[in-house]
Amino acid sequence: MPIDERLFTPDVLANTLSREIFPEVRTIAPPKMGKVRTVYRVGKDQLVLVTSDNLSTHDVVHRRQVYGKGDNLNAISAFYFDLTDDIIPNHFQTYLGPNTWLTHEATPIRVEMVFRAYITGSAWKAYEKADGPERGMNFCGVHLREGYKRNQRLDSVIFTPTAKGQVKDFDISEFASLDSNEDDPKLTIDVIRRNFRVFGLRRAEDIDYLVEKSLALYHAIHSDLASKGHLLADTKWEFGYLPDGRIALIDECVTPDSSRFWNAKLYKFDEEKNIWIAEQDDKQHFRDHVESLGLHKDEKALAEYWMPDELLRAGIGKYANIRQTITGTTMEITTKPRREAVLETLAQKGFLR
Ligand SMILES: Nc1ncnc2c1ncn2[C@@H]1O[C@H](COP(=O)(O)OP(=O)(O)OP(=O)(O)O)[C@@H](O)[C@H]1O
Ligand SMILES: [Mg+2]
Repeated sequence: MPIDERLFTPDVLANTLSREIFPEVRTIAPPKMGKVRTVYRVGKDQLVLVTSDNLSTHDVVHRRQVYGKGDNLNAISAFYFDLTDDIIPNHFQTYLGPNTWLTHEATPIRVEMVFRAYITGSAWKAYEKADGPERGMNFCGVHLREGYKRNQRLDSVIFTPTAKGQVKDFDISEFASLDSNEDDPKLTIDVIRRNFRVFGLRRAEDIDYLVEKSLALYHAIHSDLASKGHLLADTKWEFGYLPDGRIALIDECVTPDSSRFWNAKLYKFDEEKNIWIAEQDDKQHFRDHVESLGLHKDEKALAEYWMPDELLRAGIGKYANIRQTITGTTMEITTKPRREAVLETLAQKGFLR
């Protein structure tokens, strides 16, 4: 889809919502700011969740924001929460206004539930480096047979979990040899089962329940996307316990921040390069760009980097297009300051002091 011409006007491009904590929100606990979202506890078991337009790659928040990103992420997540709520409950309650939701509060499980149907990203890097594609390898406790080519479809969907946080946040013997500042260290299902309490699980078998439910989510969403011309190469979910003890899907659901979307028509094997080629409709081009500059190895330089307009526009287009493909709704193009729109919503709904 072509990018709307109005996006070339500087006023629109610059009209983004930066992540911040609004001190005027009436909360019953200190607000918490993530890399993209700010979470306000506004009542017993109730959260106001504001999704900003911030972009993060390599666990670093970038200086420039992506117009419309927060709203596009929310539209996609809400669509998939609705599509899958018969598989597992989720935290979504109501859409309050631009970028802003009311959700159920959950006690988060500290595992990033990563699922992959294709071998790419960090899984490919490890596969390529380890024993080499000739011999196969073990990744997050999953045996990967020999002979995969880059971006190839895996024989089945695999679970490759990581811990949510840094090594030092988890006191387990399996991390003893790792650098204490390492982000999102890799796990296996056995490590999670053995240390279930450390990861915020209430019963060891809850991880098995979550894997079963996640595979059902993956298949449901993969087939929805397939009908819309896309492949879900991989994705990441977070879960938590609701006050009544049920486990719910929280945060976001199959967005271009948490997933890789590939155009199904353009996915093909390149004989010359000996790899599968994928057209990426997610944030991968931002990762590739900063990696090509070596910025992924320098947190400070990455945080200060001024992303060129051209890349931002490509990103705006990708987020808006995938939102339209999935939900059938379009991104709003507006010069009304986003921050004002969010504060207006919060005031109207009675969440300000
Ligand atoms: N319903 C919920 N109850 C409690 N916490 C939630 C809920 N939904 C989301 N969260 C938490 O709110 C935070 C949202 O922030 P954000 O999405 O910016 O995540 P992050 O962890 O900083 O980064 P990333 O998602 O990129 O790893 C996360 O810590 C997430 O676990
Ligand atoms: Mg998140």
